[in-house]
Amino acid sequence: MDELEEPDRVSLRPRDVEFDWSALPMHWIPGDPYTTHLLNVLHLLLPEGERWFVRLFTQALPMIRDERLAEEVRGFIGQEAVHAESHQGVLDHFTAHGLDPEPYVGQVRWLFRHALGERDFTGRRNPERRREERLIEQVAGVAAIEHFTAVLGDMILNSPGLDAAGADPTMLDLLRWHGAEEVEHRAVAFDLYMHLDGRYWRRAKLMLVVAPGMLALWIKGVRFLMANDPTGRRRPRLTDPLRATRRYGLPGPGRLLRSFLPYLRRDYHPSQHGSTSQAVAYLASSPAAKAADERGGR
Ligand SMILES: [Fe+2]
Ligand SMILES: [Fe+2]
Repeated sequence: MDELEEPDRVSLRPRDVEFDWSALPMHWIPGDPYTTHLLNVLHLLLPEGERWFVRLFTQALPMIRDERLAEEVRGFIGQEAVHAESHQGVLDHFTAHGLDPEPYVGQVRWLFRHALGERDFTGRRNPERRREERLIEQVAGVAAIEHFTAVLGDMILNSPGLDAAGADPTMLDLLRWHGAEEVEHRAVAFDLYMHLDGRYWRRAKLMLVVAPGMLALWIKGVRFLMANDPTGRRRPRLTDPLRATRRYGLPGPGRLLRSFLPYLRRDYHPSQHGSTSQAVAYLASSPAAKAADERGGR
């Protein structure tokens, strides 16, 4: 990937992908329920999280005073909307095969729709200003989350160990198509925050909230999925993450935890990490993205 030239900027567009889950085995990484469910947590978290991004960024659009950024935000909204629905398809498949995700997803839904949802400031002083400030704070939160989705996107694009282990190719394509679009649009939320506010302390503060929050949700999600696996109740073991690192070459817990540190640098920009050219190359070869283009795209 080093030989590929990095494009300055790509125009972001949603790809109207479709996936057929009818042949998906419950343990789509053969013989490895832990790593299967470690990655399945994405399906539990992303649909509600990405619908929240879409609502927030749609509200933020009228505040943007830069047409190029507004165009990127519109592309981001289109991509995240398709991501949410694609992962929802996996959840529907799980439900049909005896793994009801609703007890966990219901909590995630409450988090994004109520705890982090809209507030009514009617009757308070400067309601419009308060609404904008809350929105900017939320955009800073999305920028922090998008740092991790870009890290995870880069990880899944560089995970040949999963193919070697016989992981389900349709699932790998979903994760890599999504991961590639995360890498492709990794700067949009950050650039939007810098445009609307940009204060360092605010984005650093939100990262310090988001990083432990995501870790806690992830651990809870893996435990939930393993405890509710229709093939038998299981508990994750302490050695499982290290085994996944060794077996598939995935980054270990230490590397993932450290991955939030660059975000705290004052001169951080998402373009410093990950490869747009690799993402674009994957999207040109992804079976789902190619089929979407053949159907006429959107
Ligand atoms: Fe996404
Ligand atoms: Fe994203």
